Amino acid sequence: MRILSGVQPSGKLHLGNYFGAMKQHIEDQDAHEAFIFIANYHALTTIQDAGRLRELTRDVALDYLALGLDPKKACLFRQSDVPEVTELAWILSTVTGMGLLERAHSYKDKVAKGISASVGLFAYPMLMAADILIYRSNLVPVGKDQVQHIEMTQDMAGYFNNTFGREVFVRPEAKLNEAAIVPGIDGQKMSKSYGNTIELFEDPKSARTKIMSIKTDSTPVDAPKNPETCNVFALLRLLASREELAEWERRYRAPGMGYGDAKKRLAELFEDRFGPARERRAALAKDARRVEDVLADGGRRARAAAEPVMQDVREACGIIKAGRT
Ligand code: ADP
Ligand code: TRP
Repeated sequence: MRILSGVQPSGKLHLGNYFGAMKQHIEDQDAHEAFIFIANYHALTTIQDAGRLRELTRDVALDYLALGLDPKKACLFRQSDVPEVTELAWILSTVTGMGLLERAHSYKDKVAKGISASVGLFAYPMLMAADILIYRSNLVPVGKDQVQHIEMTQDMAGYFNNTFGREVFVRPEAKLNEAAIVPGIDGQKMSKSYGNTIELFEDPKSARTKIMSIKTDSTPVDAPKNPETCNVFALLRLLASREELAEWERRYRAPGMGYGDAKKRLAELFEDRFGPARERRAALAKDARRVEDVLADGGRRARAAAEPVMQDVREACGIIKAGRT
């Protein structure tokens, strides 16, 4: 099975990104042939500052490597190192109706929020379909918000195959993570755009300050509390062992526990989990060459996988590449 997923380099990665996406990508490297890429063409729809895009792209690579992605097992690369995806996106655009893209929730949501839409933002799902189809990916691990984009990819694969009468593309399936939506410090979905994140690699003091400020209700210490509705408990669920979580649940439901105790423990667990990765990241960051080598090598491997598929695509639709008969 070939697994593929992408992450946009559009800001500092946080606990929601980790438990919603990255953790699964890293685990998948052992069971599947994994392709993980940094979607820098996609990020151009929001980041329009060359230096910052380069820096954020490198940051995502460092984050993955520090968190345990092994470039010998998984292929980690920059989307733009396989420029053929933009060629494929164009070809897909010629078999895709406007109506399909007009129905995209993520596009409609952004427009509803007053973001002025570029053609690139509108065409975003087409480039995402090209990302997936160009590697004949079988499974695409994503969060719930991306499922519609995978369904659109299935449609586009079908349109192409039907139009040209050849099974050039395989049908990809979304692989959903069981991790629910990770709440931010204000209780809404943790998201860069809400300013409520706990970043994976922020310094321990500021992470602790944020954890201590997580919103809780005003149940007094001597009253029992409901773990199911508590933002702190939702994060403990992700970081504590099963035994420890059961113990916290018992403490929540009995009088005498203060939310401050749970927050302090959460800060320790956060540090236990991400402290070692922070050190690995700092060491890797000093070796700029190594990160570049990993990405360049991943890009070569990904391009080699894409090339025969593009030949099939060009042949199927009659675009003859120079040098071929
Ligand atoms: P953000 O909302 O911070 O901009 P993205 O939209 O770039 O995050 O999400 C990148 C990936 O991380 C997606 O697969 C998404 O499903 C996942 N993700 C982001 N925030 C959360 C969250 N709070 N809980 C679970 N998964 C999340
Ligand atoms: N749209 C995805 C996100 O915002 C990122 C992405 C781009 C992607 N291309 C992809 C994810 C292909 C999976 C497969 O999270």
